[in-house]
Amino acid sequence: MKSIEIGTNGFKASELILGCMRINNLNIDEVKHLITYAYNDGIDMFDHSDIYAGGICEELFGRALEELPGFRDKIKIQTKCGIARNSSGKIVYFDFSYDHIVASVEASLKRLKTDYVDSLLLHRPDTLMEPEEVAKAFDYLYEKGMVKNFGVSNQNPGQIELLKTCVKQPLTMNQMQLSIVECGMIAQGLNTNMTNKLSFMHDAGVLEYSRLNNMTIQAWSPFQKGFFEGSFIDDPQYPELNAKLEEIANRYSVSKTAVATAWILRHPAKMQVLVGTTNVRHLNEILGYQKIELSREDWYALYCAAGHTLP
Ligand SMILES: NC(=O)c1ccc[n+]([C@@H]2O[C@H](COP(=O)([O-])OP(=O)(O)OC[C@H]3O[C@@H](n4cnc5c(N)ncnc54)[C@H](OP(=O)(O)O)[C@@H]3O)[C@@H](O)[C@H]2O)c1
Repeated sequence: MKSIEIGTNGFKASELILGCMRINNLNIDEVKHLITYAYNDGIDMFDHSDIYAGGICEELFGRALEELPGFRDKIKIQTKCGIARNSSGKIVYFDFSYDHIVASVEASLKRLKTDYVDSLLLHRPDTLMEPEEVAKAFDYLYEKGMVKNFGVSNQNPGQIELLKTCVKQPLTMNQMQLSIVECGMIAQGLNTNMTNKLSFMHDAGVLEYSRLNNMTIQAWSPFQKGFFEGSFIDDPQYPELNAKLEEIANRYSVSKTAVATAWILRHPAKMQVLVGTTNVRHLNEILGYQKIELSREDWYALYCAAGHTLP
């Protein structure tokens, strides 16, 4: 599997990341099997958040690391902070204060049973954010060796620029929802200066900003429609898309998820794809993306089959 360079400080990771948001559905042996299977197939980056299943996902991963001697040193662990949930899991507010960020990372490290994470992302924008507070927290975490690299998630260029007024460490990653179906950041650019629905800019030009500023977009939920409304793969709501996915999949003898993954990675914006399967059979199917070279014609045909228009 290809590795990509994230930022310019020598941080390299596989272009596929295994998202660990759903691993609370597995027992410890299944977690160990999933993550070693992923690693043996070239995936060396694993994504977490302090809030996934109230910390259970990080805890399970930490237990797996403990039972897999030497595995920690082979992989990159990423976690996120900044969302405050109450005990029933409901999001109650966002918090980029020094105290919240530091306490959150300390708790994640404890659950993950590691001294450091390779990257830390601010999970969702906190409009009450004071960049000085974030900078102080990042300096502390960096100087203590607890976090090696920093980034954001679900944030627009203005929010990133605001952070950069104080944060010294490069912000090299932005985790954003992106799939053939949910691709507003792509559709908007294609419909620039049109008056249709797709021309509306929801993210202040994050795709072009990322390319201009050497930030890696980590595409989350590559197979989901809406905000966790289920997978569009084999969904009767998307007959044209599924037919096109199948046609291309058959041509390469791969799965539809492999084609959907290749669609994201065909974009030259230096992205990573963040898959959230907990099933090794599904993961193996996704890995077929490496056999595919999508032509421009196929790429645009998939985009249109998902129901998006070109001017
Ligand atoms: N930054 C953010 O705000 C944010 C938000 C959401 C997620 N994330 C990150 O992104 C990661 C991926 O998100 P996601 O889990 O929604 O992504 P996804 O890979 O699009 O969806 C995975 C889900 O789809 C199911 N699925 C059904 N059929 C499948 C198939 N044929 N192949 C693969 N999966 C299939 C999986 O079930 P099986 O397990 O049975 O395969 C799993 O429940 C998360 O783990 C998390 O790390 C970040």
